[in-house]
This record gives sequence, structure tokens and C-alpha cells, in this order.
Amino acid sequence: MTGSTDHAPAHDAEVEVDLLPSDWREQVLALAEEKDAVILAHNYQLPEIQDIAHHTGDSLGLSRVAAEVDASTIVFCGVHFMAESAKILSYDKTVLIPDERAGCSLAETITADQLRAWKAEHPGAVVVSYVNTTAAVKAETDICCTSSNAVEVVQSIPADTDVLFCPDQFLGAHVQRITGRENMHIWMGECHVHAGINGADLKDRVEAEPDAELFVHPECGCATSALYLVGAGVVPEERTKILSTGGMITAARETKASTVLVATETGMIHQLQKAAPDVNFEPVNRAAVCKYMKMITPAKLLRSLRDDRDEVTVDRDIADAARRSVERMIAIGTPSATAE
Ligand code: 13P
Ligand code: SF4
Repeated sequence: MTGSTDHAPAHDAEVEVDLLPSDWREQVLALAEEKDAVILAHNYQLPEIQDIAHHTGDSLGLSRVAAEVDASTIVFCGVHFMAESAKILSYDKTVLIPDERAGCSLAETITADQLRAWKAEHPGAVVVSYVNTTAAVKAETDICCTSSNAVEVVQSIPADTDVLFCPDQFLGAHVQRITGRENMHIWMGECHVHAGINGADLKDRVEAEPDAELFVHPECGCATSALYLVGAGVVPEERTKILSTGGMITAARETKASTVLVATETGMIHQLQKAAPDVNFEPVNRAAVCKYMKMITPAKLLRSLRDDRDEVTVDRDIADAARRSVERMIAIGTPSATAE
């Protein structure tokens, strides 16, 4: 059950699930206690991982929990850039991820070298990076942002200063639309999962469920369509909410709607349903599944705790520079990052 990092992910996961002991939950909790470890799970994780975690939440909320808890070891059930963020914010703790190959197609759309070259083309510009970036990219960034505070972060920059916004083109378009800022240059990155939730899917679902509310992650290809449908009167404005994954959970507790259409990765439905059991949460696209998030399996979580793997390391200089860009974001305003 130890697996090996050079196995193909799907095969590796299948073999491990076959070997999963029936008392894996008890073993995981006992090992966590023995090793002074806290288990964190992102909202897109498999339901059984979300259910055993000590805290679930959005990416930034979990990093902040990592920095605040007393545990000396963090087991981060999410994708690699999130575990790196936890390491950046709590450098002296041991951070483990159950499978270090769990990447992120959005974070991979820009490297530190590419960002340095882009900065050289726009001297004097301020770099704003979404938290879905590697530590090396954050270290080249002036201010980080999350999906829920990107507008405020860009608005904090003097109007006559150019902004380089990376890596997500849909979040960038959303911010540009709201701020009306013309001197904002947007990196053309995208997440393969969210880009696959398109306007046509959204229009069909909205027409089929005319009374439903809409929760849309701003990384979605359909974020623009959602706003267009609002403008065209197809969906009333008060029923359309552009939200981070943490913001969706808060909105779920408050909604009066009986059905909510959810435009993001389908793992989100599990926490939403727990937050509001009487509401019917429906994914806009059932195929919107992040294969990287699903690489974290119960068997790999057990292995991680038992064998202390895979340890996440970040060079101290990179971590220090990256932390400054995250702290500048926090200084602008408390991002509505949530974890419980
Ligand atoms: P949140 O920061 O809203 O949790 O989103 C992270 C992510 O990867 C979205 O795809
Ligand atoms: Fe990255 Fe997209 Fe997966 Fe989120 S859903 S972790 S942005 S690949």
C-alpha cells in the first residue's frame, strides 16, 4: 500500500483502494494524534476525505488554519500549491501532502521565468497573482488575491499604474469588468475544469430551473455568461452570486431558494449539502471534476500519516518573498477565506 511516485495515478489509486483496511478511519485518527498532526481538506476533496478532516475550507482559509493550529504537522488534502501556501505561512511546521503529484492546471499556466519576462515588458507595473500559483510565482508577485477579494486588491493600486493580473483569464475578465480598468493586462491562463463549465451549459440549466439560485465560481468560463444572463433579465441579479468556494458555504446557509445551481468543481456539493440539508444543490456540469483533487484517496492519506510522506518543501528565500505578497493582500482587507 505504500505505492510509488512513478506509478500512473489512476492505477496507483486503484491498487491502494483495493488494499484499504476497513478500519482506515480509526487508523488515520490514531496516527494523527500520535504524530501531533492536523488534517486539512479542501472543499473539492472526496467526501470521505472531507468527512475525516479536522478542518475543511477554501484554499486560503485552510492555509490560515495551518498557521494558527498548535499541531506540529499539517496533512494537506488538496493540490500542491495549496500545501505550499500552508508551508509559506507556517514555515516551521512539517507539511505533508498525501500525493505530491496532485498539481493544478491553472497554477501550471505560468512559471516564475514567464512572469519575470512579462514584468520586463511592463516596467513599473504591479503584479497581482491569484493564490492558485506556485510559491516561486508568488515570490515574483507584488500582491496576491483570492477569488473573493481580487476586485479590492486591484482597486487598491493607483489608477495610473499598470496591473499585470495572472494567471486566470476568467477571474481577470471579471475584475476588469467590475473595476472598468483599462491598464490591466491579463494572463491567458485557465483551469481545465472551470473552463469546461461553459455558457451553453449554464443557459440550458437556468432555463430548465427558472426558480433556482446560481452560485458561480469566478474562474468559470460561464462567469461572463452568468452576468450576461443577469443583464438580459433571464436570471434576476439577486439570484446570481459570484463566489469563492468558502463564500458558497456561507451563501448556502443563508439561501431561501429550494434549488441552487452550482458552477464549480462537483466536490463542492458535499459541503453545501451539509451546510443546508434541505436545499437541493445541482452541479451545472456533472463532468466538472478535478482529477488532481481526486488523487488524494483514503489509502494515500493513511500512507501519508504512517510514512510521513510526501513532505512539501519551499526554499526559505522563496517562502519569505512569497509570504510578503500574501501579507500585502491580507493588509488590504481580510479576504473572506473560510475554513471550519
Ligand atoms: P478557492 O480558493 O475558492 O477554494 O478555489 C480554489 C480552486 O482551486 C478553485 O478551482
Ligand atoms: Fe486547479 Fe482547477 Fe483543480 Fe482548482 S479545479 S485545483 S484551479 S485544476
